[in-house]
Amino acid sequence: MSILIKNINQLLQVHEDNVTIVKGAKMKTLPLIENAYVYIVDDTIVEYGSMDNIGDIKAEETIDATGKIVLPSWCDSHTHIVYAGNRASEFVDRINGLSYAEIANRGGGILNSAKTLQNTSEDDLYKQSLKRLNEVIAMGTGAVEIKTGYGLTVEAELKMLKVIKRLKQDSLAKVKPTLLAAHAIPEKYRSDKASYLKIIINELLPKASSLRIAEYIDVFCEEGYFSIEDTEAILKAAKKYHLQPKIHVNQFNILGGVALGVKYNALSVDHLEELNDDDIKALKESITMPVALPGCSYFLGIPYTPARKIIDAGLPLAIATDFNPGSAPSGNMNFVVSSACIKLKMTPEEAINAATINGAYAMGISNMYGSITRGKKANLIITKPMDNYASIAYEFGQDPIDRIIINGISL
Ligand code: NIG
Ligand code: FE
Repeated sequence: MSILIKNINQLLQVHEDNVTIVKGAKMKTLPLIENAYVYIVDDTIVEYGSMDNIGDIKAEETIDATGKIVLPSWCDSHTHIVYAGNRASEFVDRINGLSYAEIANRGGGILNSAKTLQNTSEDDLYKQSLKRLNEVIAMGTGAVEIKTGYGLTVEAELKMLKVIKRLKQDSLAKVKPTLLAAHAIPEKYRSDKASYLKIIINELLPKASSLRIAEYIDVFCEEGYFSIEDTEAILKAAKKYHLQPKIHVNQFNILGGVALGVKYNALSVDHLEELNDDDIKALKESITMPVALPGCSYFLGIPYTPARKIIDAGLPLAIATDFNPGSAPSGNMNFVVSSACIKLKMTPEEAINAATINGAYAMGISNMYGSITRGKKANLIITKPMDNYASIAYEFGQDPIDRIIINGISL
C-alpha cells in the first residue's frame, strides 16, 4: 500500500540524516518543510520534500493535508497501561485531604492495584489494557513502553508480561516491555523485603528471561519502596540477562538513583521531580536519557521536573505520560506536550523533540522512530488545520488530531 500526503502546511521533525537524539540548545530547533509532501510505501517513509519538487509520484491513496501539520507520532517512553480496575476512590480520598503517601501506607496505592490485578484473568486484563492502548493510539501515540509492577508475585508479574506480549503482537503500535516487579513491597513481605528481592532475582528474572518477554528492568527507587542497595542488587542481577535499566528515581526524594542508573548504563532515568547538581553532573557524561512526567506532577500536585535546568545544562530530555491508575490516569501525549510548555517552560520545539525523537531514544528505537527520515517507520500524526505547530501545545486540552497513520496504515 502506498500513501501520498500532499499540500502539508508544515512537515515537522524532518531529518535527512538518521538522528537518534537531540540535546541541550539543539532541542530549540525543530527542522520543518513548509508546503510539503510525504510519500509512504507499506510501513516505511520513502520520500518527502517541498510541493515545488514533488515530481510524478503515483500512490494508491492520496491525502490532501491543506492547512494541516504532519509530524512523527508521539513516542511515549514510560507507561503502566496494563492494569486492572481503577483507583478513582483514592482520587476522591486525596481531594478530601489524604496524601499519596498516606493512601499507600494504609494499603492503598500500588498494593491496591496489585490486589485487583491478581484477581483478574489474563484475558480480562488484556481487554482492559487493549482498550487503553487503542485510546492512546487515537490520541497520536505510535510507540509505547509498558511496565509490569501491579503483579508483585511471580505469577502475576508473568501474567502482565504475557499481556504486554499480546498487545505487542496484536497492536499496530510499537510496544516495548519493561519488568518492574520492584514497584512496591507486597503486604506479605512488609517486614521481610529481602525475601521479595530474592524472589525477583532468583525466580522472576530467570523465568522472564527464558520466556524472552522483557526487554528492560525498572525499580521504584524511593523512600518506603526500594533503597539504593535494593536497586543496585536488581540492576546487577538484570545485567546478566541483558535487561537494560529504565528506572523510577527522584519522584519524592533524592537517594542517588540517577548516578546509580548512569553506572548501570540506564537507557533512561524517569520522574526527576527532585533533582540536584550531582544528578546533572552524573547525566552529563552518560548515555542515559532523563525523562519528565508532567501528567504525574499535575495529578499529584507535586513539583514539576526542572526541565530548564536539564536542557540548559546541555542535556537531552524526553517527556512521557506515566499512564497509570494512581499518579497519572491519562495517556494523552498532547496534554503532556502542552504541560511541558506551560509548566516545564519548554518551548514547543523542545516539547515536540522531547515527545518524538527523545522519547524514541528512551525506548531504544530512535533509529526507526521519532523523525521524518527516509527509511524510518511510517508513524505519523496529521493535525486539524492550524497555522503553526505551536497550536498543538497552545490549545491545551483540545484535540489536535485529524487522523493518524500507524505502521503505514491510515486510521
Ligand atoms: O510512576 N512511582 C511509581 N509508580 C507510578 C505510580 C504507581 C501508582 O500509584 O500506581 C509512577 O508514578
Ligand atoms: Fe511510572
